[in-house]
Amino acid sequence: MQFQHKNLLGLQGLTKEEITGILDVAETMLPVVESKDKRLPLLQGKTVVTLFYENSTRTRTSFELAAKYLGATVSNIVASTSSVQKGESLKDTGKTLDQMGTDAIVIRHPMSGAAHKLAEYVNASVLNAGDGLNEHPTQALLDMLAMRTRFGRIEGLKVAIVGDVLHSRVARSNLWGLTTMGASVTFAGPTTLLPEAFQKYGATVTNDVREAVTGADVVMALRIQRERQKAGLIPSVGEYARFFGINEEVLKLAKPGCVVMHPGPMNRNVEIDNATADASHSLVERQVHCGVAVRMAVLSLLVGGNSK
Ligand code: CP
Repeated sequence: MQFQHKNLLGLQGLTKEEITGILDVAETMLPVVESKDKRLPLLQGKTVVTLFYENSTRTRTSFELAAKYLGATVSNIVASTSSVQKGESLKDTGKTLDQMGTDAIVIRHPMSGAAHKLAEYVNASVLNAGDGLNEHPTQALLDMLAMRTRFGRIEGLKVAIVGDVLHSRVARSNLWGLTTMGASVTFAGPTTLLPEAFQKYGATVTNDVREAVTGADVVMALRIQRERQKAGLIPSVGEYARFFGINEEVLKLAKPGCVVMHPGPMNRNVEIDNATADASHSLVERQVHCGVAVRMAVLSLLVGGNSK
């Protein structure tokens, strides 16, 4: 597959063919992740740097493993222990990495648009691993891969995304990705955490979780960020769980064969019930598994010699 982009900054603007192409490549990476000898030397001689200004377990580790499985040299920078603490700017950090021969920079940053800014400064390919409230493209891609390997398609799936939609870059990337792929997407949550504007982009928005879940093939719970409670955006964690938590009771309204997803990290018994998170219809672990394959796919497409 040819991927005619230097960077992966978001799913907004990617075509159905481009997203399908990434998922097709990712699907071919799954057997590598599952094999005993996880080696596919598509990035031999290439250097990948992960540059994280925010905490991460899944995204940073899976990008690192993906790059290593592809034979790249990998270096990890955590802003809290780097020269960022001495006041170094994003621009200077990026240019410094460029001069070291870096082929790809994977960045997570609290500011929306930071990955786009970095891409203006560097020659390396930039992969957005989450920028503020904007996008987390590889999360939505891995969510779609998990759906596709379960249902054999994305088009026509009814997907309910429930929780703190307002502050969720996962929600935004899934909005762009899933609607482009022809899924029907409903966002649900308290009014204070639900952007009405999503309706303009082809999604349904409701405060009623039961309405969102009714007939759904996929129910995705989003992390409730406990710090929002202080800002008065949710009444209390307990009340939030009662009205918006995903559990087996509310899932009775979903389509038979419905799956439950969560991007992680989970607040068990808040946005998702403990038993539901571990149920046989939970794809949470599968999502993590698909994450490595998706990151192998995007790294190989951007810096493996097939891109631009
Ligand atoms: N889903 C996700 O982005 O998880 P991390 O914050 O652990 O990377």
